[in-house]
Amino acid sequence: LLDDIKGLHHGVLNVAVVSTAEYFSPYLLARFCSHHPGITVNLDVTNRDAVLKQLADNAPDMAIMGVPPDGANLVAQSFMPNPLVVVAAPDHALATMKDVPIERVVRERFIIREPGSGTRDAFERFLMKSGWRLQNSMEMSSNEAIKHAVMAGLGLGVVSLHTLEMELKLGRLAIVDLVDFPLERHWYLVHRQGKRFSVAAQSLKTFILTEAAQAVLPALPGRKTRAKAKR
Ligand code: PGA
Repeated sequence: LLDDIKGLHHGVLNVAVVSTAEYFSPYLLARFCSHHPGITVNLDVTNRDAVLKQLADNAPDMAIMGVPPDGANLVAQSFMPNPLVVVAAPDHALATMKDVPIERVVRERFIIREPGSGTRDAFERFLMKSGWRLQNSMEMSSNEAIKHAVMAGLGLGVVSLHTLEMELKLGRLAIVDLVDFPLERHWYLVHRQGKRFSVAAQSLKTFILTEAAQAVLPALPGRKTRAKAKR
């Protein structure tokens, strides 16, 4: 019991997160660490494929990512929505259009994430399912680069809503009102099956699973997200 109590006050945790989770996980950690000032949490920010590799090597205590693959010996629990949206510069013709059909946007140049990114993977699955192909796309391996490229007028971008809080507030980017969007996704807390948790790790896990949604959900713009959530 004494060890347990000590474990709650001290310890070093390693958490691997996909790059898109960098927009909310520091806020979560700030809250957690204010309750547990003796616990140090190291955050490794990388992409989905790299997080999966780390989990396979049993390196981190836990990870945060979009949907992990089936049958990879992993336990995954969803804890918060992760809507995927298409963004445009505010002066782009599509920025103010309503109910834009997918066939209208595939003619545009898209700036998409690199292979290995969960964001990219989700968008590609959507395209495959809907039978459309992008006619013109450029790859950038960071959400920030994509957002700046879109602001600069290079094309449309595909990003998680979590990346957009600042730009939406400042009116620097607009969400395209695309039919069937936002794509509904979720964030998952992931660890290896049978992982032995320290007391500190267990309490971080419980914290994320129970408090994440209230703590950090960004202002979800608008009716579409809410309407979809009711389904
Ligand atoms: P990414 O992951 O940052 O690798 O695109 C996001 C996700 O998996 O949802």
